[in-house]
Amino acid sequence: MKILLPLILGSVLMFDSALAADADIESRVAASKQVVQAFFGELKGELVKAMKQGGPVNAIQACNVSAPAIAQAASEKHNMTVGRTSLRLRNPDNSPDAWEAGVLAKFEERRAAGESPAKMAYFEVVENDGVRTFRFMKAIGMPPLSKMPCLKCHGREINPKVAAKLDALYPADNARGYRPGQIRGAFTISQPM
Ligand code: HEC
Repeated sequence: MKILLPLILGSVLMFDSALAADADIESRVAASKQVVQAFFGELKGELVKAMKQGGPVNAIQACNVSAPAIAQAASEKHNMTVGRTSLRLRNPDNSPDAWEAGVLAKFEERRAAGESPAKMAYFEVVENDGVRTFRFMKAIGMPPLSKMPCLKCHGREINPKVAAKLDALYPADNARGYRPGQIRGAFTISQPM
């Protein structure tokens, strides 16, 4: 009994703090999902507006200027770093780090195994030199043209004027030639704990 009681108490305490840690992670995951949804909504809004105003050539400029600005604003508002990344980049500023590249590769494996990119997400607490960071990624699928205009700038048949503008802005563009259903990239969030 003398040994057993502290043992029992100890494991109850450990169980408690494990539950608290779980709740903390759960709330970070929920917040991340919300931030991604809001970020995507805002991006799509800007894109559709710019396409209506001046077609895809005009909208490239909108993407080029507003995507990083929207990401920056979302990051400041939610105290997390929010961005987009991909294994096939248009803007080299969006390059994945090693952890992100690994998750994107796993997303590709999951898609190859039949999973739809629509709900694909992953999170992990990453520890580096004793510093813990919450990291979250959500896949971005490539929708068909009937649903969204993404393929006009990322697809296999791109209007020559659009292509010329992309060439001028992104000489190393690798984000063309996509087909519907593929993974275009992912939203990525990191937050110090
Ligand atoms: C009018 C042309 C255009 C359309 C339409 C478009 N994009 Fe893009 N996309 C761009 C440009 C330009 C960039 C580079 C933005 C930057 O400089 O950060 C980009 C970047 C991206 C990135 C960031 C990774 C990278 O390669 O730099 C993702 C992810 C992405 N687009 C997905 C989409 C999705 C999904 C859609 C449809 C909802 C879409 N795009 C529609 C032009 C477009």
